[in-house]
Amino acid sequence: MNARSRFLAAANCLPTDRPPVWLMRQAGRYLPEYRALKTKHDFVTMVRTPELATEVTLQPLQRFALDAAIIFSDILVIPEALGQPYYFREQGGIGMEAPLDRIEKIKALQKDGAADRLAYVYDALRLTRAQLGEDTALLGFCGSPWTLACYMVEGGSSKDFAKIKTLAWTEPKVFADLMETLTDTCAEYLRRQVDAGADAVQIFDSWGAICPAHLYETWSLRWIRGIIDRLGSDVPVILYAKGMCHLIPQLSATGASILSMDWTIDLAEAAALAPAHLSLQGNLDPAVLTSSPETTRAETHRVLESMAGRAGYIFNLGHGMIPSAKIECVEALVDTVVHSSPRA
Ligand code: CP3
Repeated sequence: MNARSRFLAAANCLPTDRPPVWLMRQAGRYLPEYRALKTKHDFVTMVRTPELATEVTLQPLQRFALDAAIIFSDILVIPEALGQPYYFREQGGIGMEAPLDRIEKIKALQKDGAADRLAYVYDALRLTRAQLGEDTALLGFCGSPWTLACYMVEGGSSKDFAKIKTLAWTEPKVFADLMETLTDTCAEYLRRQVDAGADAVQIFDSWGAICPAHLYETWSLRWIRGIIDRLGSDVPVILYAKGMCHLIPQLSATGASILSMDWTIDLAEAAALAPAHLSLQGNLDPAVLTSSPETTRAETHRVLESMAGRAGYIFNLGHGMIPSAKIECVEALVDTVVHSSPRA
């Protein structure tokens, strides 16, 4: 079984010789070769230049026996394509130019042609596929409309998310129009990533957990469902909704094929709540990779054990790789998964 067929089998809930493994934010400050490239090019330039994005995408694959690569890009390319640029703060974090602090700015977003302006991502996917070969899975992604709206309206990360919540509460029509623009753009963007060679796509709802419980459906989930409906059923969609693992039935009703779990749920418990056709991905705490190879092996083993015997399982972290992750811990993680036993 090659890496790509292993990934696709697990994504479709079919048996595999062992769980496939890939890691989010494979690219990042923990890799010296990434840091070296970043001394020559800034983050946004690397994202926008297919040759550089390809190089960064492939860096982790050269070190670790991963079954899938995720294209190096960012969720904030969509706001940029709609007319709101972003920038990388060297001290860490991401900022948006001109936060959407007035209704006129929301109305001025340029939806027409937005997916075309992301051609550099499709080019990066095609170039990556050409260099990666046919035997490894390649993933595309986007942010959920809610998560993108959070960054666009707040102007970056936020402590209380008061601005986006005020908009959703006081201007429901403007909010819904913004969400529709984002939903349509995300759906077309994902479709074109698939056309450019992505085997599966992941939707990141990183900020769903700030929604009041009774509004999660209205503010976030329905728009995610909208993207998956528009995409059609031929593409495996991975849904990652940080902090929302207690809502497995609702998340699964979006039509996603795979739910990516953070570390707040025991995977065996998640599996008991999940329909049999649903694959699960996750959920090692990324901070484990700052401990020691021994602890990483033990924790990786524990996660694997909790899913022993279940078809449809993809090994992953519960969130992105953190900058202080140790390379020897990543090695220990991958080695433990690669030498684990067959799935159901
Ligand atoms: O795994 C990969 O490398 C794939 C590419 C990828 C990146 N960002 C590159 C990146 C993916 C899948 C993302 C997703 C992303 N980006 C999300 C959703 C997932 C999540 O984290 O919840 C979000 C919210 C963003 C927005 C974003 N990008 C933030 C908030 C930051 C700053 C994070 C930090 O630690 O400072 C980024 C920067 C970013 N995006 C990095 C990478 C590799 C770090 C770049 C660096 O430090 O050089």
